[in-house]
Amino acid sequence: MSDELKRASAEAALEEVRSGMKLGIGTGSTAEFFVRALADKVAAGLDVIGVPTSERTAALCKELGVPLTTLDETPELDLTIDGADELDAELQLIKGGGAALLREKIVAAASTRMVVIADESKVVETLGQFPLPIEVMPFGLESTRRAVVKVADALALSGEVKLRMGTDGAPLVTDGGHYILDGHWGRIPDAVSLADRLAAIPGVVEHGLFIGLAKAAYVAGPAGVRKISPAAA
Ligand code: 5RP
Repeated sequence: MSDELKRASAEAALEEVRSGMKLGIGTGSTAEFFVRALADKVAAGLDVIGVPTSERTAALCKELGVPLTTLDETPELDLTIDGADELDAELQLIKGGGAALLREKIVAAASTRMVVIADESKVVETLGQFPLPIEVMPFGLESTRRAVVKVADALALSGEVKLRMGTDGAPLVTDGGHYILDGHWGRIPDAVSLADRLAAIPGVVEHGLFIGLAKAAYVAGPAGVRKISPAAA
């Protein structure tokens, strides 16, 4: 069921794509449905070029024949389509469940427009049920973790801040060579304040709060796909 919904949202978002566009291409299972749908259009003659947000997305694009460029060659993009772990009504997002948040945020910020694809289960009233991914430098890890806990305490967020482990039992390493701390806070009432405070910690490379980046979302539920595009976004 969930796969059907992911596919439906990804395919609906194709209506945003025009020939000649420079695209940011997201990471995750929903984004993979988008890559597959995009590859079919490319095979049928659609002329686009994409910047992938992870090695995993790059590999899939290459396999399916989606033309790729880099952000260095193509520093300004028209549109990024990406999944999310959570989104609220204002299109504030939590991203990074797939550990690609740093490249995802750089690519989204380099795009005129970011559009989210998701199934209805990702829509929440208040962000935070999904643990917030925070990408950190391996150097000084414990000091950085404590600084993150202090920020959480100052905002009355309670819950553990855990180092994300890989399947091999070692800390998971991102495409950028960093680690991920996950903040299990349950509820983040003031995402803007948390985002600002996390960004000010020296060992934090980037955090998974995407604020003011997404302009629209295609959300698929059993009754079909609805488009959310708040006036303020
Ligand atoms: C990767 C992400 C993904 O977009 C997010 O985790 C959603 O993934 P999925 O579509 O598999 O649920 O932020 O870093």
